[in-house]
Amino acid sequence: MTNRKTVTVFAATGVAGSACVEELLRQDLFDVQVLVRASGQQEKSSSGLLNAEDGKKKRWDDWQRRGVVVRSADVTDHASLIPALEGTDYLVSCVPLFATESQYPLIWAAKEAGVERFVPSEFGFIYDWEQFWPTDNAHKTAARQKVFIRKMIEMAGLDFTIIPAGLWIEYFMAEPVAVMGDGNTRFSWSTGRDVGRIIPHILAHPASRNAVCPVAATAYCTWNELLEIREGLLGRKVARNYLSNEDWKRIYAAAPDGPMKAILGIGVAATECPEGMALWANWNALHLPGFRGTPLETLFPEYIEPRVSELQGALG
Ligand SMILES: NC(=O)c1ccc[n+]([C@@H]2O[C@H](COP(=O)([O-])OP(=O)(O)OC[C@H]3O[C@@H](n4cnc5c(N)ncnc54)[C@H](OP(=O)(O)O)[C@@H]3O)[C@@H](O)[C@H]2O)c1
Repeated sequence: MTNRKTVTVFAATGVAGSACVEELLRQDLFDVQVLVRASGQQEKSSSGLLNAEDGKKKRWDDWQRRGVVVRSADVTDHASLIPALEGTDYLVSCVPLFATESQYPLIWAAKEAGVERFVPSEFGFIYDWEQFWPTDNAHKTAARQKVFIRKMIEMAGLDFTIIPAGLWIEYFMAEPVAVMGDGNTRFSWSTGRDVGRIIPHILAHPASRNAVCPVAATAYCTWNELLEIREGLLGRKVARNYLSNEDWKRIYAAAPDGPMKAILGIGVAATECPEGMALWANWNALHLPGFRGTPLETLFPEYIEPRVSELQGALG
């Protein structure tokens, strides 16, 4: 096969990144590379849980055996990054929320290396909207940073694909569940793994070039519908509070600094918009009707419930 594009995944051992690599391999439409960070950088994650080096090494070895090209670079240094990105057509970044800035040198190097398209690490709100919501908070700062990165990609003349993915279910199910608003507005729901899984399908679709593609990678339904399914699976009521924008602002203001504060900012932003939240988009229903999110019946017991406890411990 000669006309295959090469996709390089950055932060490939993260939640979204590793699922993306696995789906690229399964899909078998692209040649696959991962960009490994030369050691020495502060290790970060979206949740506060850090991936151990030996676990990553096993992953890289396994991927290599399955045909993935592993390229290592000092990702803070353009002279090291340019050769590492040569031959890449699509660069997919899955960096964690708290390492968003690690993408800056990549943009320059991607341009110099002749990369065609840059998919920045987004996968949440439609940040172009969130940046203008009235109340400032730690999450809105991150939103503005993500928009800034996107604009830099455009100004560099690179193609882009922006993938908002709504709320990652596992981050929002700790009891009592803090519902954003009255629970009757439809939201886009994803899990980190389904986000990673859907990326290769979005990339393979011609409508994703220079486009914002807001997906509901796992489900597209209201909070109440999602919680009803969870209750059916657990066989009991799920404790919950319906929180207005005023409630969210109060809880946000009282929270100590840290990753949880940024997550509470999501609630402030989500309840700020009169319509409920800019999360109703479902690009995949239109363009990827064959893509199936992981069924909630298996997802809740096998992934979400254990992950909720893990995240509660890490986020404090
Ligand atoms: N909408 C939501 O509810 C929601 C929830 C969570 C996350 N997200 C978004 O999804 C995206 C991906 O998040 P994720 O949770 O999948 O990431 P993650 O699992 O936290 O990513 C961890 C990986 O990031 C890489 N990494 C660690 N430190 C780094 C640094 N200093 N600079 C660059 N890379 C570093 C490492 O991979 P390597 O060693 O392989 O480089 C590590 O294994 C983010 O944009 C985040 O904001 C959205």
